[in-house]
Amino acid sequence: MDKIVIEGGIPLHGTVRISGAKNAALPIFAATLITGGVYRITNVPALRDVATIASLLTELGAKVENPSSGVYTVDTREAMGREATYELVKTMRASCLVLGPLLARFGSAKVSLPGGCAIGERPIDLHLKGLAALGARINLDHGYVAVDASGGLKGTRITMDLVTVTGVMNIMMAATRAKGTTVIENAAREPEVVALADFLNSMGARITGAGTAEIKVEGVEELHSADVEVIPDRIEAGTYLVAGAITGGAVDLEGIVPAHLANIVDKLRECGCDIKENVSGVSLKAPEEIQPTRVTTSPYPGFPTDMQAQIMALLTLAQGASVIVETIFENRFMHVAELRRMGADITVVGNTSTVKGVKGLSGAPLMATDLRASASLVLAGLAASGTSTIARVYHLDRGYEKIEEKLKGLGAVIYREKA
Ligand code: UD1
Repeated sequence: MDKIVIEGGIPLHGTVRISGAKNAALPIFAATLITGGVYRITNVPALRDVATIASLLTELGAKVENPSSGVYTVDTREAMGREATYELVKTMRASCLVLGPLLARFGSAKVSLPGGCAIGERPIDLHLKGLAALGARINLDHGYVAVDASGGLKGTRITMDLVTVTGVMNIMMAATRAKGTTVIENAAREPEVVALADFLNSMGARITGAGTAEIKVEGVEELHSADVEVIPDRIEAGTYLVAGAITGGAVDLEGIVPAHLANIVDKLRECGCDIKENVSGVSLKAPEEIQPTRVTTSPYPGFPTDMQAQIMALLTLAQGASVIVETIFENRFMHVAELRRMGADITVVGNTSTVKGVKGLSGAPLMATDLRASASLVLAGLAASGTSTIARVYHLDRGYEKIEEKLKGLGAVIYREKA
């Protein structure tokens, strides 16, 4: 298997262009199933997860083309399939995002139940509870969930027990064609939810309140295809800001929505970084000394769980002790053992880790079990003395477009070693 090799200890300087957001692109691809048509999606990142959703749509009968970098056309006019198989769902949990769209279009869908994953159990019970409230019958059989609403979906009031991003997306997509109005309370407020609602509205849906805790969906009879540009990836952006901070460098990001990064930027300022924002960019200058801080992950607009591993890498080098509390996923400290192997001083009790800053990290052979944990090891490797190798590069390829190229552009010594 391929490895990433990093010669650490070089301050990074320069400008990075941020790619489209994986977590905004995936639901948009799924939403093209709601009504048969030809869709043009731009600013799509070249990532393995995007290839997986494209394969899923193709399996369902859609024609998916990628005529030029970042541009996809999806033709769902003849997409008549209704089943997401185990083979695809096991490689990417977000495959379950086709449930809502298929239910809206055909009144039935069958999706393999995702299993647990490296960061936790991650059930989809709340997706199903919401769809059931809209009138769907749910049957679990042989590892699959079959959802049926042949009598039609009916708008209702749904209060989410927990804030779930893809859960709200599924319910919102199903509700676009329900009879009457659906109100979703305690809805996720992530920018990716807003981006999906905007896309659905451009297809003729009537959704208001996305970005607040209460989303209202007035069902419509018909929708139509539309073109859409994927919003920038706030997590990729946050990761490159940490790359500047952890190496004692200075980086400028282009092509972002600064407001989406507010909580990450606030936290990095607490760590002593000098950060300036403009309309579509942000620039960071690392501090002389990284200050410790307290981080608690929570749903948007809180500090994102998808940035927890990366900020931990930074705090391993702070002047004092930091505390990180992970409230979203029960097993998301898989990077800790690897960071310790590089010399970090981290203790974990339950969902809380205490990170005592050390003078320096040393490069090591490393391996991660998930996407963001892999990113934190890359960051630690950039700051460490000597060579780090990071195995299981496929995790990074799921979520970071051209990561070596972008880091090289900032002056890093990083390359991929083919197996
Ligand atoms: C999305 C993101 C992922 C991010 C996560 C939290 C995508 C494709 N992925 O994942 O990158 O880490 O949001 O910001 O957008 N839960 C249940 N039952 C459910 C659904 C969720 O108990 O039916 C729990 C989960 O186990 C977790 C919490 O709710 O503890 C939040 O998960 P959720 O927001 O659903 O994460 P995803 O949408 O899967």
